[in-house]
Amino acid sequence: MYANAKAAATRTAITVPRLHDMKAKGEKIVVLTAYDASFAAQCDAAGIDVVLVGDSLGMVVQGHASTLPVTLDDMVRHSAQVARGLAHALLLTDLPFMSFRNVEAALVSAARLVSEGGAAMVKLEGADYVLEVIDALARRQVPVCAHLGLTPQSVHKLGGYRVQGKTRAAADQLLHDAKAVQDAGADLLVLECVPATLAARISAELSIPTIGIGAGVDCDGQVLVLYDMLGITPGKRPRFSKDFLSESGSVPAALRAYADAVRRGAFPGPEYAF
Ligand code: KIV
Repeated sequence: MYANAKAAATRTAITVPRLHDMKAKGEKIVVLTAYDASFAAQCDAAGIDVVLVGDSLGMVVQGHASTLPVTLDDMVRHSAQVARGLAHALLLTDLPFMSFRNVEAALVSAARLVSEGGAAMVKLEGADYVLEVIDALARRQVPVCAHLGLTPQSVHKLGGYRVQGKTRAAADQLLHDAKAVQDAGADLLVLECVPATLAARISAELSIPTIGIGAGVDCDGQVLVLYDMLGITPGKRPRFSKDFLSESGSVPAALRAYADAVRRGAFPGPEYAF
């Protein structure tokens, strides 16, 4: 199954404490989305640290205009498929729209992602009432990844997919929210589409690792949507994403090139940041 079976056999599985350790040691964390077992196995073989079953699957797999139609059943199904392809990478799965609308709903939804979907960590967007949800999950030993900045489940309130945290007030609020999700018990934080200087400041001030997408090179790790970085998502590629397949020639080589570029701090360059 693995492109490099020997390398795969000698690698140890990525755990939540290992992610904290990587931040402490200044080792970049490489994250990529996947939605099925075959691509998950490719990611694992390429040395991706964390595989995210993102609700982006609503757009890139199901063809919707947003992530809002994605259901908990969708997430459980795709998470379980990805889990069957992984041997080393940590499996992180999104809680979809409204599945964490209150603590009770979030506990039921997260339990399904972990027990049926094989997730080691769940991701949820926002702060505010979400802090109570993060606290409840963390107290029940469910690792949580928070997601701030451009939160696609809020697309209608935000008025589109736009860079966040551009004004002084918005930047202060983002920094405040980042500290609040950490204090509530989050183990990881995705920062999406925020100015690189702000993401660098948040990453320096938090003890938990930050994973950027459109947030500059100074985050503790990077994530991209798999189909964007393979250049197969229909339409215009987001400015922060890079087509690694066109210059690598094969899927395994593209995944390795991405992992290598993130680990060397070569991706994202300023042309992929805001
Ligand atoms: O759903 C997703 O793929 C995500 C990433 C863009 C971080 O949340």
